[in-house]
Amino acid sequence: MTDLNRNKKIESALSQKKNEHIFLALKQWKNIESKKTNFSKVFLDRPSLLTIDYKNIDLSTNFLNHQFKWPFYIEAMSGGSSLGYQLNDELSKIAREFDLAMAVGSQSIALKQTDKQTIESFKIVRKNNPNGFIFANIGIGHNANEAQQAIDMIEANVLEIHINPVQELSTSDGDRNFSNWNETLQDIIENIKIPIIIKEVGFGFSKNSLLKLDNLNVAAINVAGSGGTDFGLIESTRSPNKTWGEQVKNISSNQNSLFTNPTYEILKNARNLNLKTPLIANGGIASADDVFKSLALGSHLVGVAGYFLYLWKNKKLAEEIRNWQTQLPFLYASFNAENLNDLHQLNIK
Ligand SMILES: Cc1cc2nc3c(=O)[nH]c(=O)nc-3n(C[C@H](O)[C@H](O)[C@H](O)COP(=O)(O)O)c2cc1C
Repeated sequence: MTDLNRNKKIESALSQKKNEHIFLALKQWKNIESKKTNFSKVFLDRPSLLTIDYKNIDLSTNFLNHQFKWPFYIEAMSGGSSLGYQLNDELSKIAREFDLAMAVGSQSIALKQTDKQTIESFKIVRKNNPNGFIFANIGIGHNANEAQQAIDMIEANVLEIHINPVQELSTSDGDRNFSNWNETLQDIIENIKIPIIIKEVGFGFSKNSLLKLDNLNVAAINVAGSGGTDFGLIESTRSPNKTWGEQVKNISSNQNSLFTNPTYEILKNARNLNLKTPLIANGGIASADDVFKSLALGSHLVGVAGYFLYLWKNKKLAEEIRNWQTQLPFLYASFNAENLNDLHQLNIK
């Protein structure tokens, strides 16, 4: 019996959905080489006459009322099933070991399904990491009261709200009523006291959306562009109405679809918009080079989901994080950057 079948037997439909997300994402990331080219069109102008002193290199980033030691973190993926518990348990131990921040997956399931097991699949992240920096996560459409429950559940440092219309529409049983989004978002912004991040889930934000989000006065926007995990493909594959799923797949899952919005392009657009809200980069990050380029393109922090999931499955996550923590100072030095401020001044071709 596969893990997926075993989980199907003992868990609710919602938990099963969470497991399917993990299995279908892993299937996409098996084709790892195709995911390693997302940032190949970004060229950084490397100065030769360096002025920095290597010993002054400081990778930390001061952001969201916190001094992050490393500029990358584990982005939202898990919780809400027994596999979700295992993943959150193991990822949070790695986050603690390597001093990385970590987001939990959507806690919407724990607001609906309030049994001990479901709640524990999120709480384990704080239990393993009492002093860690942890992001709560809910979908847009929840009100401030629900957001506060999600925050309290894991004593979160910040709240991430994901806006995922294309994901919902990709499956025939996804949400279809978006009419309370503006109102509930305003309720959260007015009443939640910790920093709020608005994020996509891999379809990215257009220029106009970035401008609108910039006016909300949230603490950060996570651009979460395309190139990495493709939730159009995940949801259309698991859509109960197969005809709907097939048609969505035909429309959305090719490199030139209307939904293609690569992370590097959004970051480049944002540079020209002079947004006042700081950015988080996410979507298709699969190397220290990608982290470095994303920071140079103006972001303050870089979130990694699917690639870390793939490495976790292959028992290589700790090794790769160690590699990145060694490679990044080398990259900073090679490009004459002692810190994030210097990196933001680099010329991009
Ligand atoms: C298995 C899996 C589950 C995810 N679940 C959530 C979630 O619950 N909430 C959320 O905001 N994003 C979720 N995401 C989206 C990621 O946080 C991220 O925005 C997206 O996958 C793009 O990044 P990537 O290319 O590094 O995977 C999930 C991603 C994966 C791979």
